[in-house]
Amino acid sequence: MTIRFDDQVAIVTGAGNGLGKSYALELARRGAKVVVNDLGGERDGSGKDPAVAQKVVDEIRAFGGTAIANGSSVTDDAGVARLIDEAIGAFGRIDILVANAGIHRGAQFADMTVAEFQDVMEMHLLGTVKPLRAVWPHMQKQRYGRVVMTTSTIGLFGLGGDAHYCAGKMGVIGVLNTLRMEGEAAGIHINAIGPIAATRMGRDAVIKEAEWNAFAKDFSPDFVTPGVVYLASRDAPNGKILTAGGGVYACAEMVGARGISLGVDCNADDVAKNWAAISDFSQPHRFADALKHGDLLREMAGTTR
Ligand SMILES: NC(=O)c1ccc[n+]([C@@H]2O[C@H](COP(=O)([O-])OP(=O)(O)OC[C@H]3O[C@@H](n4cnc5c(N)ncnc54)[C@H](O)[C@@H]3O)[C@@H](O)[C@H]2O)c1
Repeated sequence: MTIRFDDQVAIVTGAGNGLGKSYALELARRGAKVVVNDLGGERDGSGKDPAVAQKVVDEIRAFGGTAIANGSSVTDDAGVARLIDEAIGAFGRIDILVANAGIHRGAQFADMTVAEFQDVMEMHLLGTVKPLRAVWPHMQKQRYGRVVMTTSTIGLFGLGGDAHYCAGKMGVIGVLNTLRMEGEAAGIHINAIGPIAATRMGRDAVIKEAEWNAFAKDFSPDFVTPGVVYLASRDAPNGKILTAGGGVYACAEMVGARGISLGVDCNADDVAKNWAAISDFSQPHRFADALKHGDLLREMAGTTR
């Protein structure tokens, strides 16, 4: 095995089931000491069961790996503090955070209250940010860290339903776009995975029951894990979004159309008339950051900074 994690410590949140479990097992097989975090709740986030994380720890120990269990909720401040304390207490450092914990409460926008929207969005966004904020100073101090956050192709590319879920999953992309710059100087690389896998989360929600068996065979969580393990490795890129499912790996990214300068006197009719040029992506622009986007605007507008 070329990619190894000997002497490295990884926290995987939501590692009691599905994708997180597969990530935790493979990181441990490759030598990482793993903190298996899982609240042990239902698919919708209700309930808790500490045995869920412990079972994965038992599996890791059975093949000679090293792991401890943590049953905290990633949205609970005291629980997240406990997660970090237990990781540092047991292993002395944290090199890798895979922020994977997630819930699903499928609903049309018209059927959800704002409070329900907030709840699901916060679970995904703050359930990523809270552990990340807590490990950040450790990674900064040791001048090394690898973070894999979890987004969703439903957020990236759209699908009716689950607006709250998509808001949280795209929120982490905003965090990624900033922290890829803030972390770089401290040796922290941060990336996102957009997985597609047959876990309890997808069952009934996106994939119909009649299609489930074929989907489960072709889209095991294990067919996403190599991508996450690479993003957790020393050679990981920084600031990338990787979609993965069924053994297919592809990056996704934000691009802008070149657009057109209509002048400062243009009106809404001019915008309407020129929509084809405004929305022409045949020459997509990639921007290193928002300032570079501003530079292009200035160049096209014929102004200077
Ligand atoms: N399965 C897919 O196709 C798919 C697609 C896009 C994104 N995702 C994302 O991938 C991640 C893993 O999903 P999965 O499909 O393996 O689902 P899953 O339900 O099998 O596993 C999610 C795990 O997260 C745990 N969890 C939930 N809330 C928690 C909390 N507050 N604190 C700690 N643990 C908590 C659950 O107990 C569960 O074990 C999620 O973030 C999900 O949104 C999955």
